[in-house]
Amino acid sequence: MLLRQNRGREVFLLKRDPAKFHIYTFGCQMNQADSDIMTTLLRNEGYLPASSEDDAGIILLNTCAVRENAVERIEHRLQHLKGLKRKDPGLLVGLSGCVPQYRREKLFDDFPVIDFLAGPDAYRSLPSLIAEAASGCRRVSSLEFDISETYVGVAPSRNDSLSAFVPVMRGCNNMCAFCVVPFTRGRERSHPFGSIINEVREISERGIREITLLGQNVNSYRDPETGMDFPQLLDAVSREVPELRIRFTTSHPKDMSRSLAETIASRTNICNHIHLPVQSGSTRMLGRMNRGHTIEEYRAKIDMIRAMIPGISFSTDIIAGFCGESEDDHRKTLELMRDIRFDSAFMFYYSVRPGTLAASTMQDDVSEEVKKRRLQEIIDIQSALSADLHHEAVGTVVEVLAETESRRSSGQLMGRTETNRVVVFDRGSSSPGDLLMVKITGSTSATLTGESLPNY
Ligand code: SAH
Ligand code: SF4
Ligand code: F3S
Repeated sequence: MLLRQNRGREVFLLKRDPAKFHIYTFGCQMNQADSDIMTTLLRNEGYLPASSEDDAGIILLNTCAVRENAVERIEHRLQHLKGLKRKDPGLLVGLSGCVPQYRREKLFDDFPVIDFLAGPDAYRSLPSLIAEAASGCRRVSSLEFDISETYVGVAPSRNDSLSAFVPVMRGCNNMCAFCVVPFTRGRERSHPFGSIINEVREISERGIREITLLGQNVNSYRDPETGMDFPQLLDAVSREVPELRIRFTTSHPKDMSRSLAETIASRTNICNHIHLPVQSGSTRMLGRMNRGHTIEEYRAKIDMIRAMIPGISFSTDIIAGFCGESEDDHRKTLELMRDIRFDSAFMFYYSVRPGTLAASTMQDDVSEEVKKRRLQEIIDIQSALSADLHHEAVGTVVEVLAETESRRSSGQLMGRTETNRVVVFDRGSSSPGDLLMVKITGSTSATLTGESLPNY
């Protein structure tokens, strides 16, 4: 099929449909939510999702820049796309999300396979970027921040899963020394309360059973019209859709308030689980990281919340080998993990991000070998803790959202607890989508097993 004139040359698309797009999503839940928004914006202009990369005329990578290996993964995918484009020069390749916002037009020099770039605040211009690239314009990009952009009025094209992400804010005003996010996502802004409530209502009507309210730092949510804060928003959402299970992420420890814990305690449909990234167990390192709290304050908040909500679980993020980290600082992280007993943790070794405070003012002075050894020690402790917590769960009764039939037997369902642990259980009369109580009867390192309690 002759597709388009490109700088005077005829370009052919083999089997690919120029009106079909395929999005690969990298990075955090916010990026996943953004891919659903981009899908809607493209559909509104007549483009259609392709069934796979093979029949797409447009391939979009929605990218993450948070660590060097995240960027390497994208570079690797671009090499693959270069091969596809060699066979099929009419294929359009775009990059959206955090990498183009960060590396900007230089990406065109480094990866000539790229046709267009769109930053996180520029997705409304995607259709016009694609149209320009298709008409033969080179190096088209839209990378301006727009503090007013929250994509209000764009209903995300969600897949048919039982869970949905609901962004409540975009951007970040914190300046953690290691972190690139404020540079890739821009200043913080909150979505209007009314649009969030409309979105959760619509989600509930579609039969979705669980939502996660999303933001880089949800505790600094403020409704632009009324000034309503995050605990008030969470309370209102949980009352609006009492039949849905509600999660939220991420809470910054410095802003984690008693009133948020009170809201969780007072509403049964809000999960008793908080993701509270600590990054390090050493106050000295937290200071260097510009996290705005000491480790004693972190511990005191956990104690306060545990006293208010018995049985609540915590997960966290930890960075090994940040600039200037000594063996003693590292030992404090291990100690903290043993004391708090996190349910789970995302664990990384430090990776310099150009442009951040740490990159410009600190030495990346922990060797890669030491970073990796410390990370392994952190991972080993967390694995042991998670196994112990699994073992201790045997005999308890937990709330589970049933998701799918188990792969092994149709007499069993797979679901997740409030703390996101996987449970496989005898289904009794229950079906996927049911929220039910399950008695835990056994555990392995990855899975809990149990039986549903129909009349609980
Ligand atoms: N807004 C969230 C974090 C977003 S980034 C928060 O404040 O917790 C997710 C995690 O990536 C961070 O919590 C941190 O643990 C990790 N991370 C961020 N930058 C990093 C870097 N330069 N090197 C290694 N890990 C990093
Ligand atoms: Fe990054 Fe800190 Fe903002 Fe989280 S709160 S996104 S770690 S700057
Ligand atoms: Fe990555 Fe951007 Fe999310 S850097 S973690 S995709 S905000």
